Amino acid sequence: MSTINYSEKIPNNVNLGEDRTLQRALEGWQPNFIHWWDDVGPDNSTNYEVYLRTAVSVDPQGWAQFGHVKMRDYRWGIFLNPGDANREIHFGDHKGEKAWQDIPGEHRANLRRIIVTQGDTEPASVEQQRHLGLTAPSMYDMRNLFQINVEEGRHLWAMVYLLHKHFGRDGREEAEALLQRQSGDVDNPRILGAFNEKTPDWLAFFMFTYFTDRDGKFQLSALAESAFDPLARTTKFMLTEEAHHMFVGESGVSRVLARTAAVMNELKTDDAQKVRAAGAIDLGTVQRYLNFHYSVTIDLFGADQSSNAATFYSSGLKGRYEEGKRTDDHVLKGQTYKVLEVHNGQLVEKDVPMLNALNEVLRDDFIKDSMAGVGRWNKVLEKAGVPTRLTVPHKAFNRQIGALAGIKMSPDGRVVSEAEWAAQKAEWLPTPEDFAFVASLMGRVVDPGKFAGWIAPPVMGINRQPVDFEYVRFG
Ligand SMILES: [Fe+2]
Ligand SMILES: [Fe+2]
Repeated sequence: MSTINYSEKIPNNVNLGEDRTLQRALEGWQPNFIHWWDDVGPDNSTNYEVYLRTAVSVDPQGWAQFGHVKMRDYRWGIFLNPGDANREIHFGDHKGEKAWQDIPGEHRANLRRIIVTQGDTEPASVEQQRHLGLTAPSMYDMRNLFQINVEEGRHLWAMVYLLHKHFGRDGREEAEALLQRQSGDVDNPRILGAFNEKTPDWLAFFMFTYFTDRDGKFQLSALAESAFDPLARTTKFMLTEEAHHMFVGESGVSRVLARTAAVMNELKTDDAQKVRAAGAIDLGTVQRYLNFHYSVTIDLFGADQSSNAATFYSSGLKGRYEEGKRTDDHVLKGQTYKVLEVHNGQLVEKDVPMLNALNEVLRDDFIKDSMAGVGRWNKVLEKAGVPTRLTVPHKAFNRQIGALAGIKMSPDGRVVSEAEWAAQKAEWLPTPEDFAFVASLMGRVVDPGKFAGWIAPPVMGINRQPVDFEYVRFG
């Protein structure tokens, strides 16, 4: 079961060859996917041979193999974690019943919505990142970008397989629509806000992969608990790929900080203009990028109180992060959770039914996980003897979704007037000047082992290759 069949047109470990109708439908979708990749995937990269990992098994020990491939020829396919025929639903109203191999009619609409919303984010990020290869700070970084891009493409395949297999004609239409919406398109945008924002430069890319791919981790973890077993198994496998995306973000920002700290020490200054003049990114700019990506990403978890969230949980469609490790009753009726609300312009805590607050529960888990990495970034500054620290802004800062969208909040958690917001905004969120400055640093570095001046080299290479390995061969 865990071996992947690569002799078929669509690599898979789901015995696709035994279901001719499904196989034909997916083989019909495949060329449309390649068109999409050619149109809005990595710009100008068709002839590159990239040192990519390809999944060869779903066995956690040695699941991937590395080699130079053209991205267009990447073996995108369908891989589910091994199933357990006796698996039981372990939360919600169906707790203790057998997990579903197909979808109960009454949950079809909600599951379709969940799968489409997840699926939509995958191609969206490829679109957002499509020009970054042109300004990669090194061959190593370029390879990491492309690795993420092909894996987001595979995640799209994962969701399209579920749509085709379990949702009939509706599913096939949704699979087409996933290739038609486009990030930032005025008429036909991607479903969620953060996936219509631009990722204009590599600092934004690292923040995106640190924060927004981490949203992916939490959503996928919640879906990996699902009573709908094929969804649980496919999202579990996606999580193994996701870890690398967050690593790229975390190590990327660490390397930016290491370089900035070195310049600050060399020049004995914390003056932003002097740091910039020396070709490094000042810490104020890094903080503003962090504030932006963090606040936009926590909006992705949705409204703090949501009857949909309650329905998704009680009906077994979507669990909590690490549901199995929690020691409560996994039904949550009669339990409460604290959310923030705005009263007379001030924030107050309020107890609400936990089931309705499950978006907030997942957001709070995400926040904890995010803060841990920001702590590791601060260690880089500490080790270099730089006293400045990065901080995560208040949960209510710059929110567009939920109860907190109604107020203006400073990053340090003060409710502020519209006038103060307007006056301080340039201190808190990236300005056009910040973007222009960061853009001015973006130039392509392609010699193996060479790095742009605004970022330190990584500690080690990919798959135990040296840092100066030829990660990309330009054809
Ligand atoms: Fe993904
Ligand atoms: Fe990802």
